Amino acid sequence: MSVDSCSLIVNKTNNQQPTTNNQQPTTNNQQPTTDNYMKILANDGIAQTGITALEKEGFEVLTTTIAQEQLISYINDNKVVGLLVRSATKVRKDIIDSCSTLKLIGRGGVGMDNIDVAYAREKGLHVINTPAASSESVAELVFAHLFGGVRFLYDANRNMPLDGDSKFKQLKKAYAKGTELRGKTLGVIGFGRIGQATAKIALGVGMKVIYSDPYIDTASVSISFFDGQTVSFDFKSISKEDLLKEADFVTVHVPAQKEYVIGKKEFELMKDHAGIVNAARGGVIDEVALVDVLDSKKIAFAGLDVYESEPRPEIKILMQPNISLTPHIGAATGEAQDRIGLELASQIISLLK
Ligand SMILES: NC(=O)c1ccc[n+]([C@@H]2O[C@H](COP(=O)([O-])OP(=O)(O)OC[C@H]3O[C@@H](n4cnc5c(N)ncnc54)[C@H](O)[C@@H]3O)[C@@H](O)[C@H]2O)c1
Repeated sequence: MSVDSCSLIVNKTNNQQPTTNNQQPTTNNQQPTTDNYMKILANDGIAQTGITALEKEGFEVLTTTIAQEQLISYINDNKVVGLLVRSATKVRKDIIDSCSTLKLIGRGGVGMDNIDVAYAREKGLHVINTPAASSESVAELVFAHLFGGVRFLYDANRNMPLDGDSKFKQLKKAYAKGTELRGKTLGVIGFGRIGQATAKIALGVGMKVIYSDPYIDTASVSISFFDGQTVSFDFKSISKEDLLKEADFVTVHVPAQKEYVIGKKEFELMKDHAGIVNAARGGVIDEVALVDVLDSKKIAFAGLDVYESEPRPEIKILMQPNISLTPHIGAATGEAQDRIGLELASQIISLLK
């Protein structure tokens, strides 16, 4: 998916009036004017599924992207009751204090670092998010990085356009020492929604799964197959140190932390030529230590979807040849965006109607 196709989802505009109530007005049942509709501003976009669900219940969904510094006056001028954001728009105290019509702030996705959640709730606003909607999408992206990593796709895709016609045999040789994921051990650090969704794919691929999560001592993961069969696996958390020593591949699925979860000390514990993926949050892995262990070939490859310095990842990270890079697209699938839209709509309807 290109950046443009991502922004297509984000910037989809919909200026149509709601069409669900086409009845002629009667004296008892007046056709609402636009002013009677409760206005929801989806400032970072929302999938059409969410717009449709909200419009059916008499909300008007505004999808124009308003610049951060103009948000307060736009919300007040339009009497917006619900502000929906992803990660771009910041909802800080200034907006919460200055917008008296605002009743709800919604985040399409998980992390709410861009919202002053406690303050908003203190002021009586509803603050909602959609924590489960994108777990499978992120888990699939982790495996895109892992499958790509063990067969050098990140590098082949850089070099084939340049040298594929003149140095085909050399490139074939350069990428000849691939490995399989089947039979290897995946270490999952953080065994919440995405960690468990990733474990399910790993089990389907034939990997052994181990996990470390100080807050989830044991977990039962159930995989549903297309024909209705389900298979369950029971797991027990182990220490991060034991996980790092045993895993062939490590993937981190923890929330943002004050300290690095993987730094120099942790890399040293890892198996030689292991692979690592971070599709959680920038700052969970120490990028300086990562570049060192990749340069020294201690670690074979890394897959990164998130960066310490987003939206301007460090050039050393971007140029390191053994990193498979994506620009924070873990949740950027049509399916996840549809689920996010529907989940937001259903929460808004039950809270504001
Ligand atoms: N790449 C993307 O686009 C994308 C999309 C969605 C979510 N995310 C990120 O993925 C991460 C995980 O999301 P989730 O929905 O699975 O969250 P979750 O809350 O369901 O799971 C997080 C787990 O991490 C555990 N944990 C916390 N600190 C830990 C530590 N130091 N060591 C080990 N485990 C620890 C918690 O106990 C919890 O079980 C979050 O950082 C989220 O922001 C990224």
